[in-house]
Amino acid sequence: MINDFRIHSFSEYKKEYKKSVKDPEKFWDKIAENFVWQQKWEKPLEYDFEKADFKWFQGGKLNITENVLDRHLEKNGNKTALIWEPNNPLEETRIITYRQLHSKVCQFANVLKNNGIEKGDRVCIYMPMIPELAIALLACARIGAVHSIVFAGFSSSAIASRINDSQCKVLVTANEVYRGTKPINLKAICDEALKDCPSIQTCIVYRRAIEPTSMVGGRDKFWMDEMHKVDDNCPAEIMDAEDPLFILYTSGSTGKPKGMVHTCGGYMVETAYSFDNIFQMEHNDIYWCTADIGWITGHSYIIYGPLACGATSVMFEGIPSFPDFGRFWEIVEKLKVTHFYTAPTAIRSLARESLDYVEKYDLSSLKVLGSVGEPINEEAWHWFNDYIGKGNCPIVDTWWQTETGSILISPLAGITPLRPTFATLPLPGIQPVLMDEQGKEVEAVNEKAEGRLAIKFPWPSMARTIYGDHKRYIETYFSTFPGYYFTGDGAYRDVMENYRITGRVDDVVIVSGHNLGTAPIENAINEHEAVAESAVVGYPHDIKGNALYAFVILQDGVQGSPELEAEIKNGVSKLIGAIAKPDKIQFVSGLPKTRSGKIMRRILRKIASDETDFGDTSTLLDPDIVTVIQKGKV
Ligand code: PRX
Repeated sequence: MINDFRIHSFSEYKKEYKKSVKDPEKFWDKIAENFVWQQKWEKPLEYDFEKADFKWFQGGKLNITENVLDRHLEKNGNKTALIWEPNNPLEETRIITYRQLHSKVCQFANVLKNNGIEKGDRVCIYMPMIPELAIALLACARIGAVHSIVFAGFSSSAIASRINDSQCKVLVTANEVYRGTKPINLKAICDEALKDCPSIQTCIVYRRAIEPTSMVGGRDKFWMDEMHKVDDNCPAEIMDAEDPLFILYTSGSTGKPKGMVHTCGGYMVETAYSFDNIFQMEHNDIYWCTADIGWITGHSYIIYGPLACGATSVMFEGIPSFPDFGRFWEIVEKLKVTHFYTAPTAIRSLARESLDYVEKYDLSSLKVLGSVGEPINEEAWHWFNDYIGKGNCPIVDTWWQTETGSILISPLAGITPLRPTFATLPLPGIQPVLMDEQGKEVEAVNEKAEGRLAIKFPWPSMARTIYGDHKRYIETYFSTFPGYYFTGDGAYRDVMENYRITGRVDDVVIVSGHNLGTAPIENAINEHEAVAESAVVGYPHDIKGNALYAFVILQDGVQGSPELEAEIKNGVSKLIGAIAKPDKIQFVSGLPKTRSGKIMRRILRKIASDETDFGDTSTLLDPDIVTVIQKGKV
């Protein structure tokens, strides 16, 4: 691999970790030297936890695309950068070398320039998992435009609110796309969104399907037509290490989604460093992360991290169940995938199906397996290990967040001793701690500890702010435990110092690996004219990890009905996206509230989870409501 920071043994890991805690600045300074910089930084780090002000590699000048593309051209220009596997297995696989990707990225960067995009401008990308998504993203980085990718499963109003929040000038999308057998007209969804987005001047449409596409004169342009107007010569814009690279929205426990801002230098250094050490790839290995680029996992571990290491990365357009439940394994066999990184929810849904789907394929190319996005349960871990890895492939359970930019806690494949369901140990440079309710670091009892997971020292790929709302950034992450970054997760630490993430401790629910705030879902439910009030909580679900349960109070005189339930669900789907639809809706006459009017969500969570020990309910205004709700549980 191109970088020289690979850890080869557990003792080396321990040595590196110690070094990184003793002098983090010196540690990261040395790692950062592996990259192409136009000008070296003056200072590795300057920070202030109180103001939530973090600057890494200040004064350094670079362009991340020179690191993920240009620097591979001389020796590895003909190496495959991306392998694209279409939704329909009858369509052809596309192989894109580093040289081809470089050329396309430069060309599309010129298209963006031609359409008035300059350094610092925001570009929204709403695309399916096709190579053009990667090209558009890297083209933004090439010219210093800030990409804001919106997952192509989100609704038109979710796109509009994200575009408006960061005032994007251009929207890049595709016309029609298939997910499994279901056609989705992305362009039509964009047209709906763009009714409310005055900042968008141009919409560039990639023709994924031959279907006729309605185009708005003066605003909409076809990708191909624009590409024909320009060449592929586009020098990289020189960026400051701390200039923004992208915005990615994530759910908050309250209010609108948070536009997490990631910057060029630190993000590049740490995504590459973590990728290289966690996955331990060799030159000819084939890496496949099944995430969508619309999420942080796709940003950091389909594109930036792997390409900065010169790896070959697979992009898959489809879904695990089409044409049948063997699709993942068919692709592994066909492409001889060596590194396979997926989510527990996918594992659980495939483990439910017949083993014939697995056994039909030759999975002997696999060397390393990975899991991300939510806690992996014991059964799923063992199924993954036994039937996919055949007991021979280490599983890296990688813990991190949109906000952290890169993986912070994870085994290094083949190096760190594994413990099922544990994300194990922090990467060098990362200092996790467990906090108690009083805001003190938890004292271990018999060398074991449990508490709220916080990080004690800055790391290079951390988000620097919430776009347009630094105050919210401070409040959300740095005010719970002053002097620490608070993750929102609970965790347990064993005697070997291995971490197991136990789940969110705030009002965020992870459903099928998707991070969903309950407040925005409640707001969407309350939009229905028949609804007076609602409360949404998560409850355990066999496949999705968690599912959503909505308690809904209707307006006076309105009766609950299956039709009304469907309308409410569709309303949520329309306002946020299908992923946020509640699984269950219970119409209730009241909610368990304290005298000050606060809903006691822990009680609702227990009801939804079929638990009966509600603890102390004496502070409730109407304690009887608990039994009433419990009796009507759906
Ligand atoms: O609760 C943790 C869970 O996912 C949250 C972050 O979600 P998001 O920002 O969407 O990023 C997902 C992909 C990095 C975390 O706060 N989570 C993520 N990875 C794990 C996890 N929980 C347990 N184990 C993991 N490996």
